[in-house]
Amino acid sequence: MTIPQEVADAIVDPKAYADGRIYESYAWLRANDPLGVAQPAGYDPFRVVTRHADILEISRQNELFHSGDRATTIVNKAVDDHVRKQTGGSPHLVRSLVQMDAPDHPKYRALTQAWFMPRNMQGLDQRIRNIARASVERMAAKGGECDFVREVALHYPLHVIMEILGVPEQDEPRMLMLTQELFGAADPELGRAPSATAAPGDRSSIQAVLADFYQYFAQISADRRANPRDDLATVIATSQVDGRPISEFEAMSYYVIVATAGHDTTSSTTAGAMRALCENPDQFAYVKQDLSRVPGFIDEAIRWTTPVKTFMRSATAYAKVGGQAIVKGEWLMLCYASGNRDEAVFDEPDRFRADRKPNKQLAFGYGAHLCLGQHLAKMEMRILYEELLPRLQSVELAGEPRMSEALFVNGLKRLPIRFKFS
Ligand code: HEM
Repeated sequence: MTIPQEVADAIVDPKAYADGRIYESYAWLRANDPLGVAQPAGYDPFRVVTRHADILEISRQNELFHSGDRATTIVNKAVDDHVRKQTGGSPHLVRSLVQMDAPDHPKYRALTQAWFMPRNMQGLDQRIRNIARASVERMAAKGGECDFVREVALHYPLHVIMEILGVPEQDEPRMLMLTQELFGAADPELGRAPSATAAPGDRSSIQAVLADFYQYFAQISADRRANPRDDLATVIATSQVDGRPISEFEAMSYYVIVATAGHDTTSSTTAGAMRALCENPDQFAYVKQDLSRVPGFIDEAIRWTTPVKTFMRSATAYAKVGGQAIVKGEWLMLCYASGNRDEAVFDEPDRFRADRKPNKQLAFGYGAHLCLGQHLAKMEMRILYEELLPRLQSVELAGEPRMSEALFVNGLKRLPIRFKFS
């Protein structure tokens, strides 16, 4: 069934993600047409997958639903044509894990998987805790009022992932800017202005951002090949697949996915968690009273914010999902933020409840592409709030929170708060 035009238009309107209208569209779709076909003007038709069960079912069948055959994030036809022209036919400007399928995907994933497993993460506890303490001090120095996004949420995860990658601290502002330009491309405040000669729908600004990333990481990669260190950049720079070093393009893509996926998502969730505390004083009291409640609070913040809104898949053969027939070649949008508000799975899905148990949030995806950084993300947020909450006596909003206008990764870009520290 084709979904009503205003619902289809909201799905591709970055403003609907900023002002929260997207949740009304999701609720309508879950109730009336959970696998409906959207056809906004200028786009190829795609299915909008909004129920928790259907998202899981598609995500776990990686042979039947490929990541790499079509664009992995939603793009209109003009952008898709432009990218294919630039790349000689591929729908992707980068080739990272996210764009791969078997047989390459498991081989490339295996290169860094051990790094991201809980056992290795535990060894990072103290280093991350030191970074968290510095962030709390930075907030304390603001003397009772700050923009939590700018002072804490942006820098903390950035610093953690850059330390793990081995990027020097003085280059962090550059990494932050490039990531914001990449994920915030549709937001007038965050995106990079396209060149004056750019055609409508042109991705030249995104390509320019990627070129800057490549230039930067090419130096890091060359350095680590010559002088290997104990960091993730060295693991990537010296990786081999099938007995051969991975190509420069794939190494660059690997750096870009880790550098970008590793902090913007976590920043959005860290900020969303603070907003929830401001707006729900009972939840603030509940978590503060007993720090063993922090992991549950973080899980709920991940569900509540779901910073990665969507990823795309395409069907490699006829399939049946949720009782509906999907034909070969169909493009499907997995709407994680909708699955995380599905009333069939979550009681009172629109309420923030740190005591939610079980919490079957699917914000990290599912199946072969399940987020590689999920343990790191959860751990760094837990550590930050373990350090912050004992000192935080009260917190409230000091102005209007503002969300970024973005279809792919979206979250708070301003969170003015007033607080008291002990
Ligand atoms: C709250 C924070 C985070 C959220 C919500 C999140 C979400 C996601 C999602 C939904 C996917 C699935 C992509 C797909 O199905 O195609 C994914 C994959 C990935 N994430 Fe995260 N992520 C977070 C933090 C991180 C961190 C800290 C890292 C660290 C480097 C990271 C690295 C990756 C990588 C490398 C992949 C690709 C895995 C693959 O395709 O095999 N993420 N993430």
